[in-house]
Amino acid sequence: MIIFPMHNSTKLGKSIAHFTLNSELGSLKSALFPDGEFHIQFKDKVKGRIVVLVQALSPNPNTSLLELYFCGKTAKELGAKKVIGVIPYLAYMRQDKRFNEGEALSNKLMGHLIDVGFDKLITVDPHLHRVKSLEDVFSIPAKKLTANSVIAEFIEKKFSPKNTVIVGPDIESSQWAKKIADSVGFESTIFLKNRFSSRKVKVNVTKELEWKGKNVVIIDDIISSGHTMIEAVKEIKKRKPKAVHCICVHGIFAENAYNKLKKAGAKNVISCNSIPHESNKIDLAPLIAKELK
Ligand code: R5P
Repeated sequence: MIIFPMHNSTKLGKSIAHFTLNSELGSLKSALFPDGEFHIQFKDKVKGRIVVLVQALSPNPNTSLLELYFCGKTAKELGAKKVIGVIPYLAYMRQDKRFNEGEALSNKLMGHLIDVGFDKLITVDPHLHRVKSLEDVFSIPAKKLTANSVIAEFIEKKFSPKNTVIVGPDIESSQWAKKIADSVGFESTIFLKNRFSSRKVKVNVTKELEWKGKNVVIIDDIISSGHTMIEAVKEIKKRKPKAVHCICVHGIFAENAYNKLKKAGAKNVISCNSIPHESNKIDLAPLIAKELK
């Protein structure tokens, strides 16, 4: 097995190679010609080998997807035995229906490019909402890992159930927030969210907890514009807790969301390292490496 970390996942890719027994770290050149076109070149032989390409689809979802497709397809053409895409963050999964007439079904289009370029996909907590399974997006085998166990470990180390409660900012987040809370024995509640646009959401507290003097940990899969978390932080702050902490699997932090969230009153903003960011505190490499063995 030869593992190639790509632009968006250099550190994570190297770490996955470190944790994966019987694997080698490969070198891949991906540069741009003066006109902006990709120039892709495998610097190690891939013929007859299991090739693993590691690339999160953030930042730059469009370029990183195309780059991934070019590399996967090239490895196949060069005779790789099997080409596995480790895509720790899968972009485009939220555009899973035509919300307005004439819109592209982006999840399926992204899926098509991955199908053509790869033999297998491994990802972490993809956003499955209206579409319930990766099989509805990809025709190649696609494995969904979850960061729940590593987030739970992190919470157990940093917080105590005596003075900490866990919140999910919307119904969908219950698959992370409630599951994690139940696994570590913390009290939890799930809010209701109405989204009016990409940048406008309203969050309602449907079940009150004893907030005063407590650490409140909000858990969601993605922080993108940050508005979901910001609105949840604001609601909780009204109830005078000790501190509010935000944890997500995928920290996209578009449009300066990280600083906005801190400004809204989040004491800590923590993410898994599916997308490189200063908030990365939870390592996914061992989880992914285990799947590659
Ligand atoms: C959507 O339902 C997801 O679970 C997240 O809540 C959402 O993607 C967060 O987006 P934003 O940070 O833009 O509010």
